[in-house]
Amino acid sequence: MTTTPSADIDQIIAALWTVLPRDGAPLGLHEPEFGANDRAYVLDAIDSTFVSSVGPYVDRFEKGLADYTGAKRAIAVVNGTAALHIALLVAGVEPGDEVLTPSLTFIATANAISYCGARPLFVDSSDINLGLDPEKLAAGLTETAEIKNGQCYNRKTGARIAAIVPMHTFGHPVDMDSLLAVAQRWCLPIVEDAAESLGSFYKGKHTGRFGLVGTLSFNGNKVLTTGGGGAIITDDEKIADRIKHLTTTARQKHAWAFMHDAIGYNYRLPNLNAALGFAQLERLAKAVNEKRALAARYKTAFASIPGVRFVDEPPQTQSNFWLNALLLATDSTQLLTPLLEKTNAAGLGTRPVWTLMHKLPMYATCQRMDVSVAEDLERRLINLPSSPRLGRSYAA
Ligand SMILES: Cc1ncc(COP(=O)(O)O)c(C=O)c1O
Repeated sequence: MTTTPSADIDQIIAALWTVLPRDGAPLGLHEPEFGANDRAYVLDAIDSTFVSSVGPYVDRFEKGLADYTGAKRAIAVVNGTAALHIALLVAGVEPGDEVLTPSLTFIATANAISYCGARPLFVDSSDINLGLDPEKLAAGLTETAEIKNGQCYNRKTGARIAAIVPMHTFGHPVDMDSLLAVAQRWCLPIVEDAAESLGSFYKGKHTGRFGLVGTLSFNGNKVLTTGGGGAIITDDEKIADRIKHLTTTARQKHAWAFMHDAIGYNYRLPNLNAALGFAQLERLAKAVNEKRALAARYKTAFASIPGVRFVDEPPQTQSNFWLNALLLATDSTQLLTPLLEKTNAAGLGTRPVWTLMHKLPMYATCQRMDVSVAEDLERRLINLPSSPRLGRSYAA
């Protein structure tokens, strides 16, 4: 979808200032917020001496995450990248495999695939929701793939294609119905990278719950933070038990003996961080409301500005609007850098989208489908300050 032509930088910045507070304080892209309970629970964890990978806050946080997302199980881990690594392993990704994922994503998605000894196979994105485009994926698979003995193979490289990893960009849910149909047609499990979409729902169901497993991140810039942290959510109890085992060095339960039955990982989230997460969970719904109110204000402010399109939530979804995004018209891409320069100089934390994965040296030789929309989006997209506090005065 194209936008109306000819954006004007001063008009865009003026529109931004109709939404944002002008109190002289720098406005970061996404600032964390802490309250009384964040301090209280962390202190409580310290006082209890349970500061490492076991403790009551880990259990409470995991239960709270499962309740909030509706997943049967949530397993807390050290960060979202580790969550993706383990999620791919339990989905059966093996060395030599290929994994379908958008080129327009944060580096962690591609890196986690590499940690498994597999290679990303890059797919294009939708310019509506900025996530993996199921239609282009289907077309690319028809051109590239074949099914042999119930498994998907790349006819060009001979490698097995082991999974699809969609990512809900800036909190906007991918078209999951269409993606599930493609996954079924090509016998592929889905591992959802929901790092950015805690609090986002597709047709009423929380993101991360459509595939075999979904992963979350609680990095400092996310809607809920544990400092560093992540989680894997799933409805499959067996898989959840396997994840818990693998993330705790694959140690068998015993009062004192050290018996490990696989190469495991020290990926469990410490109780100290889980204490922070448990407090953050208490006001997650409020933070998401504030972020949605901020997005509504941006949407109104940019509705009448020529040459830009505010990226809204896709139909039948509820987005957490993790990072608000603006798309410049195709004839105004030369404005992106000056707009970044001017807004950052004015103390506004704006950012371009990530450099596309297939342009990075370590992924440049990976196979890719037609990624022309992602390349177009990279030239036109700017993220806007998105902290929950900025939407507080607008929230109902
Ligand atoms: C899309 C995506 N995937 C994975 C991650 C990795 O999460 P973490 O930083 O917690 O390792 C992030 C963010 O940080 C992300 O934005």
